[in-house]
Amino acid sequence: MSGCGNSGKSDIRGEIDNNIEKSLVVVKPDGVRKKVIGEIISRFEKEDLNIEKLKMLRISRELAHRHYQDHKDKSFFDILIEYITSGPVVAMVISGENAIARVRGLIGPTDPRKAERGTIRGDFGDDITVNVIHGSDSMENARREIELFFGQSKW
Ligand code: RTP
Ligand code: MG
Repeated sequence: MSGCGNSGKSDIRGEIDNNIEKSLVVVKPDGVRKKVIGEIISRFEKEDLNIEKLKMLRISRELAHRHYQDHKDKSFFDILIEYITSGPVVAMVISGENAIARVRGLIGPTDPRKAERGTIRGDFGDDITVNVIHGSDSMENARREIELFFGQSKW
């Protein structure tokens, strides 16, 4: 491992060549209550993904609205805001080759009842709302979400 960063190649050219991506991952309030923070982090580390940043916080209603802005017109939006603000969460920046798709693969589909055993949602999720964990779904959203959670110290 090189001295700077933890992605193998530390120079920017190498990161582009290796398709190194960053994803914002959030262990949601039910994940913290179920005491599976360590198990979840362990699954990412075992797949050679890197935990670059990590903090515990209580998501404010303002942050929740901004994070889930794409869902503001959905029928489940109010329930989603209640759920995601209902207790502390653990937010992380996870990096690695093709990290966005790999993280989503380890998480599994939105509805835990449709998720395979061995995926995080399949093993620990309750239902389509209470589903343990968030992972960024695109590079654009990853950049936006990482800035929201880690770009400023006000949260
Ligand atoms: P996330 O953004 O949290 O990683 O989840 P996702 O991409 O798998 O699913 P998305 O469609 O973005 O939905 C965001 C979160 O809203 C809740 N949800 N409830 N029909 C429902 O009641 C419903 N659908 C989605 C879930 O907590 C979901 O993760
Ligand atoms: Mg999503």
